[in-house]
Amino acid sequence: MRRLVCLALVIAALCAVFAGCAKKSVQKAEKPRFAVLGKSVHPYWAEVEVGTKAAAKDLGVDVTFFVPQKEDSNAQVSRLETFISSKVTGIAFAASDPSSVKRVIGEADERGIPCVALDTDAPDTKRIGYIGTDNYTAGKIAGETLGKILNGKGKVAISTGSLSASNSRERMQGFKDVMTKEYPAVIIVTLPADKEDSSVAQSTAESALQAQPDITAFYGVYAINGPACAKAVQSANRVGKVHVVCFDTTPDHMKFIKSGLIDATIGQRPYMMGYKSVQFLNLVKKNGADKALAEMKFSKDKKLDTGVDVVTKATLEEYRAKLKESGIPVSGW
Ligand code: BGC
Repeated sequence: MRRLVCLALVIAALCAVFAGCAKKSVQKAEKPRFAVLGKSVHPYWAEVEVGTKAAAKDLGVDVTFFVPQKEDSNAQVSRLETFISSKVTGIAFAASDPSSVKRVIGEADERGIPCVALDTDAPDTKRIGYIGTDNYTAGKIAGETLGKILNGKGKVAISTGSLSASNSRERMQGFKDVMTKEYPAVIIVTLPADKEDSSVAQSTAESALQAQPDITAFYGVYAINGPACAKAVQSANRVGKVHVVCFDTTPDHMKFIKSGLIDATIGQRPYMMGYKSVQFLNLVKKNGADKALAEMKFSKDKKLDTGVDVVTKATLEEYRAKLKESGIPVSGW
């Protein structure tokens, strides 16, 4: 009898231990795991990542972040496949080529994995919405800024990291539309895309300056382009003669703004894009897509504009103060 009682006690104890373990593993498996896919290794994307990690900490979720070395839509597709097969809870992605991710985003949707586009929209995919800059409007702002600097005269070379990504195409279109309408005398040429490779961006700008000495300005469409054009202007000894208006506010941009090589930059809000993407996916998981879209105040066409700031030498300190006030980490400038 005593033996039986002992055996029963041992079994009860083991059951309690196993139940505890099972509970723990259930709890662990339940923590949402979101995946974020960017476009290239660059301080711009590092800032997006900081935003995603801050949201993960605040919301108690896990985030995996990946960027290919440079523009590489095949690498993006295969990473999206890995995210799907590892059954992530949701995906935020920036497509270098929207048509190449269409199939795989459709597959995520079929398997119940919600996807949101960040930084670069891909409206023809099954993404729920888009979080990032209104790129067409931002391109127009860049055009207005450069048109004024040039006094409506001169020749602008557009330097870009991509001819396929929607954000680049929209920024170029907005820019060209303003120029055609308001500054029709300005000549615009588009340089070959550098696929988000900084050294290619610089050598392309250098060759353009050599081959077309009448270039009086660069429009740097991606974060890599502004600093690359500024370096090209410096190495060609054309400082003050060739203007640069571009996008983003990495430490390199700020250094060139301070030294006057970059006239103005359109500062996007990469930290916010990262933070809000994770916040949105988490809300979708909790309450479904419609409620999440409403709660985060997406527009009717399912876009969340994160906004831009035009930064010049004159407004740089004001901009720094604004970032600090919004709790966005500032480092390196
Ligand atoms: C763009 C990104 C791009 C990055 C680096 C940013 O301006 O929004 O799409 O990957 O520049 O080139």
